[in-house]
Amino acid sequence: MLVDGKAYRSIWLAADGKTVEIIDQTLLPFQFQVARLASLGDAARAIRDMQVRGAPLIGATAAYGVWLGLLQGTTDAHLRQIADELVACRPTAVNLRWAVERMLSLLLPLPEASRREAALAEAGLICDEDVRTNEAIGQHGSALIEAIWRKKGEQGEVNLLTHCNAGWLATVDWGTALAPVYAAAARGIPVHVWVDETRPRNQGASLTAWELGKAGIDHHLIADNAGGHLMQHGMVDLCIVGSDRTTASGDVCNKIGTYLKALAAHANQVPFYVALPGSTVDWRLRDGLAEIPIEERSQDEVRYMQGEDAGGMVRRLAIAPKQTGAFNPAFDVTPAHLVSGLITERGVCAASLEGLGSLFPEQLHD
Ligand code: MRU
Repeated sequence: MLVDGKAYRSIWLAADGKTVEIIDQTLLPFQFQVARLASLGDAARAIRDMQVRGAPLIGATAAYGVWLGLLQGTTDAHLRQIADELVACRPTAVNLRWAVERMLSLLLPLPEASRREAALAEAGLICDEDVRTNEAIGQHGSALIEAIWRKKGEQGEVNLLTHCNAGWLATVDWGTALAPVYAAAARGIPVHVWVDETRPRNQGASLTAWELGKAGIDHHLIADNAGGHLMQHGMVDLCIVGSDRTTASGDVCNKIGTYLKALAAHANQVPFYVALPGSTVDWRLRDGLAEIPIEERSQDEVRYMQGEDAGGMVRRLAIAPKQTGAFNPAFDVTPAHLVSGLITERGVCAASLEGLGSLFPEQLHD
């Protein structure tokens, strides 16, 4: 996507051919800064500290992390150690494990001497595939937006609500939930996005609002608590969110607060769609609530907020009494029955085993 006229992906091989560059997402929207990953440790830290985040981008970073790790050694034992270190960085988004397992199954059968080169090529392939996948999600999702616009008599804008950041910053390019928005806008369909701030880390306020602003898409930031009210008053035509892990039965794990939006959407007959690549489906799982590990992050993410003061200084401020403890689950699970449909690179399907199986039949072996 374009940032002030220059095309960017969220991760790329640096010009030196020896390191990887990312956009440091902990600094947005106040500073746009490119950071360099020169080692496995750098890649792991970038994932853990959320300089990169969003399920597909975590996967792509881990793939490059495997390559960077191989620069220190290429034995089977070392490769397995690299994989373990990366997979342990964040527990919920399954794309991390998916990407690392894909790298391992390609690299382990190869002679050690060819592993580095093969790893670099495969990481690049994972990135290119992600871009194509998200473009396809955009095409399928924009058809849904267009249908709503036609139903509204092509009057006004289609009002879409999204939670967290599932835009191009969360993937290699295009995004998942926002890809349909970009595709619809490119086709001349007027779209307006309600952007949930997404406490505690405010990915909506800091990343989604920044992305949409750069792309010239009409949007308003709303407090996380406002969505239900907007839905009750007919101000939301549809919701589209992303996913960090979706079970084969269609339960969707996504950023904390997604479930509450799905409940409000269900109560107000607002269509609630989830956009995700096939790599976000964990085909081993059937019960999202019981089986998906939910990352718990530092209580300080809840107790403090980061922002820019009037003088342009980025500061961290306490918002609670010093002695107050906090609990910070980073994701929740929306049961399949609250999901109107899944928008994938292969089309839109019901959030069910039958629905996903109809699009990905090769995944249903037993
Ligand atoms: O904690 P984050 O910022 O990595 O969480 C990201 C999300 O929850 C996204 O909605 C999800 O990864 C889908 S990204 C296309």
